[in-house]
Amino acid sequence: MSKVERVPSGIPGLDDMLYGGIPKGRVVLVVGGPGTGKTIFCAQFLVSGIRDYNEPGLFISLDESRHHIIREMASFGWDIPELERRNMWAFTDISPTRHLGGDVKTEKLAIGKRDFSLEAAMGEIRRSAKAISAKRIAVDPITSFIFQYPDIIQRRSVILELIEALTLTGATTVITTELRMTGLERSVQLEEYLAHGVIILQTLQIGKSATRVIQIEKMRETPIDTQMRPYRITENGLEVYSRESVF
Ligand SMILES: Nc1ncnc2c1ncn2[C@@H]1O[C@H](COP(=O)(O)OP(=O)(O)O)[C@@H](O)[C@H]1O
Ligand SMILES: [Mg+2]
Repeated sequence: MSKVERVPSGIPGLDDMLYGGIPKGRVVLVVGGPGTGKTIFCAQFLVSGIRDYNEPGLFISLDESRHHIIREMASFGWDIPELERRNMWAFTDISPTRHLGGDVKTEKLAIGKRDFSLEAAMGEIRRSAKAISAKRIAVDPITSFIFQYPDIIQRRSVILELIEALTLTGATTVITTELRMTGLERSVQLEEYLAHGVIILQTLQIGKSATRVIQIEKMRETPIDTQMRPYRITENGLEVYSRESVF
């Protein structure tokens, strides 16, 4: 087996479950309900890349403003404005109703079979990744972006295009999405089939207490620990207890 280059996630314990880290250049989906730590996961992945590996990070935010994210992540001691000043961190936004400029914003102009807002979003990803030579990208969350496309076939092709655009940047990417069903017997969401790897964050009621659990559902190019493991959100961000079991 050829040696796969790995990108450490920056989340203590998680890299043990991944035999060292995320395979370089891959697009990994982080699926979780509200409050499970998806946004923190993204910021931690980027901040750790900058601090520990000098790798510039791009945060593509869809639901929350830059201001909001900066304020929330400051509570973990992550000084994002300082990283921005050093050109190591950049924010961009590909939501169709914001920041794409001019008439493109809300209109859906068909160019061939593709629509213009998608075209603009892909261009924005390429441009902003190149501007800081991003080695890591986080997209948080893609749920509303893909739900613009009610048709399932179109939605599938939009997700594939997004993954392709992100892969072409050469960066290693984390995309988050809302978990739309919880429990031990949920159904698999479309984007999970299409991503190169899938990590699930959930809160399970175990006995009398609610326990945060993380599970790696799949990851190309690497063996994985597929067991559910407990994790916590602390003042340092996410921490996975990779030697503890949940049940
Ligand atoms: N400083 C902190 N210490 C511990 N937990 C925190 C802290 N800040 C936020 N949290 C927890 O993080 C969760 C929010 O994380 P976030 O990444 O925004 O979730 P998501 O993006 O999945 O909705 C909340 O449930 C909150 O309990
Ligand atoms: Mg969030």
